[in-house]
Amino acid sequence: MTQLPGLLDTEAIRKDFPILDRTIHDGKKIVYLDNAATSQKPRQVLDALNAYYERSNANVHRGVHVLAEEATALYEGARDKVAAFINAPSRDEVIFTKNASESLNLVANMLGWADEPYRVDAETEIVITEMEHHSNIVPWQLLSQRTGAKLKWFGITDDGRLDLSDIDEIITEKTKIVSFTLVSNIMGTINPVDTIIRRAQEVGALVCIDASQAAPHMPLDVQALQADFVAFTGHKMVGPTGIGVLWGRQELLEDLPPFLGGGEMIETVSMSSSTYAPAPHKFEAGTPPIAQAVGLGAAVDYLTAIGMDKIAAHEHAITEYAIKRLSEVEGLRIIGPTTAEDRGATISFTLGDIHPHDVGQVLDELGIAVRVGHHCARPVCLRYGIPATTRASFYLYSTPAEVDALVEGLEHVRNFFG
Ligand code: ALA
Repeated sequence: MTQLPGLLDTEAIRKDFPILDRTIHDGKKIVYLDNAATSQKPRQVLDALNAYYERSNANVHRGVHVLAEEATALYEGARDKVAAFINAPSRDEVIFTKNASESLNLVANMLGWADEPYRVDAETEIVITEMEHHSNIVPWQLLSQRTGAKLKWFGITDDGRLDLSDIDEIITEKTKIVSFTLVSNIMGTINPVDTIIRRAQEVGALVCIDASQAAPHMPLDVQALQADFVAFTGHKMVGPTGIGVLWGRQELLEDLPPFLGGGEMIETVSMSSSTYAPAPHKFEAGTPPIAQAVGLGAAVDYLTAIGMDKIAAHEHAITEYAIKRLSEVEGLRIIGPTTAEDRGATISFTLGDIHPHDVGQVLDELGIAVRVGHHCARPVCLRYGIPATTRASFYLYSTPAEVDALVEGLEHVRNFFG
């Protein structure tokens, strides 16, 4: 078995993930390489979900009975865990949403409805990048269309990095918000946060970071990042679906208006007007995703016990090995950085002129799960003049043997299509 420095004890870790033992297509062991789409869930998370429903299920913040108090303690306890996980200065800066898309839409809508100095209007500019997931493009397009604000973006270099050569022209005194991904969901690129934030701070623009592909894979410290908002989702970090996070700086959350109205986000309501609860509740209208938050809390416990720095080192070793092995496949072209430096464990590629959907289909028959298509990052495919890619994305339970299985599978695909 291939041994690489920095690998985690995947044999032990994989025992926590029942699904990884599944066989498909006549007994083929599943090789799950679609972790950028969603991660698998360890028994510890599944148990926490079950225990919540079996013992403590009730609505939160509303009741005086035992179950309501337990549910509230579990839900708010999950907020404490997430706050610690991202080193938030205050638990009140952690807003639970349903996913990262909702978190990013929340930021766009806060700014759209805000008073000065935060309001985005026809005199102002919004900056994003060509490397974004659609969830960090479309909310800003909607905001731009509604307010008249100009939408600008950084392009991408041939080797899959952000082109910051014109940073002073893109981020200007008119810029109100710069929103960009920390790690590309299609190419794995890790972006130079400091350079972008420094320029944004020079002109007094707010910064929003999409950390959906970062939070599961590396230590995330919102104080060190120095952004104003950070969005991520639970299901990519061994947590359940239906739970996302928006972290925001406390003074901003105090000043900015809510987006969704309803129960639990208010202080008082009369027929003509309402006042709002303090953050984070101001931004959590209605019954929140309680069980999902509890599951995310268990996911955070699980990742923390292993250690985010160890997970990052494991993925770095796997990425280095995967790039080396994939480069041996004739006709394979990696779309994005071709070295393991400043990149995560998500690798997109094309294979000659074989359509990625065909590649994915044949790999699936071998038990290998990858994602094919534009990965909700269509502008990246347009940038490289390709309709789609095949994407393999690794995680803490991925092994060198799974990289080998992928490479063998791709050789099979090449032979199959002549
Ligand atoms: N955002 C997920 C992905 O990149 C769904 O696949």
